[in-house]
Amino acid sequence: MTLSPPNPSDARTVPGTRFRVVSVPETGSTNSDLLAAAQAGAEPGLVIVTDYQTAGRGRLDRRWSSAPGSSLLVSILVPPVAPSDMVHLVGAAALALGDALEALCGLSTQIKWPNDIVVDDRKLAGILSETCVGGGDVQAVVVGIGCNLTPEAIPAELRDLAVDVATASGQRCDRDALLDALLRRLDVRLDALQIVAADVAARSATLGRRVLVEQTHGSLAGVATGLTANGGLLVTADDGSEAEVVVGDVVHLRHRDR
Ligand code: BTN
Repeated sequence: MTLSPPNPSDARTVPGTRFRVVSVPETGSTNSDLLAAAQAGAEPGLVIVTDYQTAGRGRLDRRWSSAPGSSLLVSILVPPVAPSDMVHLVGAAALALGDALEALCGLSTQIKWPNDIVVDDRKLAGILSETCVGGGDVQAVVVGIGCNLTPEAIPAELRDLAVDVATASGQRCDRDALLDALLRRLDVRLDALQIVAADVAARSATLGRRVLVEQTHGSLAGVATGLTANGGLLVTADDGSEAEVVVGDVVHLRHRDR
């Protein structure tokens, strides 16, 4: 629940884009807030950013927590897209964030399937996309991004697996400058969703790697060979069979893990 509900009339426009940003000091989850706002009739292009979430959510029903003021925590209500393009929205956001980090901090990132931004295999940011469905149709899509800006963003138990922008780039990155740079690039990407898949493949940290895919019904070891039109991951298993993984977690294995 928000301490003060985001009010679209308080929004600032990001010049040259379709986006309007409402900033709140603290909330439960910006994704939850924006889904509620969408259900109440908010227009696409509305963005909610906060310094701190008390009930931040990640993929697969996980929690997403970080210390106040340590992360970019943002959700974006994207305009309706064709059903076949829905799968490209997370990729568009991942590419936009990567391009913004490169421009602002000189930081090169990769995309780990399905929706993590990584630097040298350590997680820098995660993306959670959620839909609001009404009458059997998708009424709205919310794309939420959590990006670690400083070391305080990373819970102690994840320090070996995650990294933040300041540590990885050696520079502090201003949250609002990063948000505006991200939104400017996303605005362009949303008009070119057909080329997102190729750009995601080119920036993938997963393709060509030996992986362990952890799914609810077991795990699968093999080599990641491609991305499918559904956004799935093609894995050639050790017995030579090929599987499309649609939901799951991937561990990138090193040669010595074979
Ligand atoms: C993941 O890697 O599991 C995705 C994490 C997404 C976290 C962001 S933070 C802003 C937005 N609000 C949420 O509750 N979650 C997303």
